[in-house]
Amino acid sequence: MVIPNDIKDSSLAEQGVKRIEWAERDMLVLRKIRERFDTEKPLAGIKVAACLHVTSETANLVRTIKAGGAEVRLCASNPLSTQDDVAAALVHNYGISTFAIRSEDTDTYYNHIESCLEFDPSITHDDGADLVTTLHQKYADTKAKNIWASMEETTTGVIRLKALEKDGRLLFPVFSINDAKTKHLFDNRYGTGQSSIDGIIRATNRLLAGSIFVVAGYGWCGRGVAKRAKGMGAQVSVTEVNPVKALEARMDGFEVMTMFEAAKIGDFFITATGDINVIRVEHFELMKDGVIVCNTGHFNVELDISGLEKTAIEIKRDSRPLVDQYIMPTGKSVFVLAQGRLVNLAMAEGHPAAVMDMSFALQALTAEFVVKKKGDFLHKVHNVPESIDKWVAEIKLETMGVTIDILTDEQREYLASWTLGT
Ligand code: ADE
Repeated sequence: MVIPNDIKDSSLAEQGVKRIEWAERDMLVLRKIRERFDTEKPLAGIKVAACLHVTSETANLVRTIKAGGAEVRLCASNPLSTQDDVAAALVHNYGISTFAIRSEDTDTYYNHIESCLEFDPSITHDDGADLVTTLHQKYADTKAKNIWASMEETTTGVIRLKALEKDGRLLFPVFSINDAKTKHLFDNRYGTGQSSIDGIIRATNRLLAGSIFVVAGYGWCGRGVAKRAKGMGAQVSVTEVNPVKALEARMDGFEVMTMFEAAKIGDFFITATGDINVIRVEHFELMKDGVIVCNTGHFNVELDISGLEKTAIEIKRDSRPLVDQYIMPTGKSVFVLAQGRLVNLAMAEGHPAAVMDMSFALQALTAEFVVKKKGDFLHKVHNVPESIDKWVAEIKLETMGVTIDILTDEQREYLASWTLGT
């Protein structure tokens, strides 16, 4: 039987299997969950729709959900992040309905979301909240009523969902995977840190050592990128709008300045803020000749590309793959990577599997938790239960061969005496 799908090229499946198996070697927490799910079938009979980056790591998550007994449909959470070989393998080797084609246009992107919703899921996994937003905008009185809960992977998605909650418009419970400690402290920091630098290097092959590297935003992602760029020998400058984060960046040893100041001196610019128009025409106009500009935030809104298009006197597409040259009225060139879409997934392969292991273990275990509780939660943005977060940390340490101290009885009693106020 051919399962419903829309992928680029079925002949890529064999390569996709190799890639998925390679990632699996570093996803031992998720593998442990999959082995248990395979025997216990905690998701039996549940329909699950996932709108996530279609990568080898995500493939291992959807395999796990399927092993739990669920029927799964997967679509992309970004038009440029799909690994077509992985999509082919998911359909042909793992029997998972997948709707994703790298570089799909906006209509196809949303049609693929529709294909995922077509089979009336009761659980959804989102990365950026496009699936949940579609449910709210088009299916408030129909499909949204079937949803037990949704899991949200990323900071930007959680911000969108909290806005719906604040307006009293959230139609079902949502779990913020992003806010779990074993997610943002590792995935956002070390995952985004490494994979964004990886994307810049694969795209440009430029030397970071000795360069001036500007990071806009000092959240967990910005911190990770700044630290890794420094490790490569760059002089890192941070721009911020939040005084506490700016202070933290300064005390972590980075220069802190405004984007106007940074624009004049930087060689590389990367945005990681989640906000719009962080680098604007007035900044592009100040930049040196040949600078590299990119974004690692979820949406392609952080660079004012349309302003740049209007200002540039000439645009040369694809100087290298997905590297566009904008020639400014001064004659200087600005190179933009991946049309301002997230550089780590568009130009490289996203976060390494070892870090997605924890994020996706949280996704799988929270889905199991929702099913156990039969979706009986308030229509709010919830945190992942602390017991799940702690279990993921413990098992990750175990798979890394790391043992930690345990409290002695005396230490436990001492701490308990404080909580009892004695
Ligand atoms: N988000 C960031 N990196 C990712 C990856 N490798 N797979 C899925 N989602 C991601």
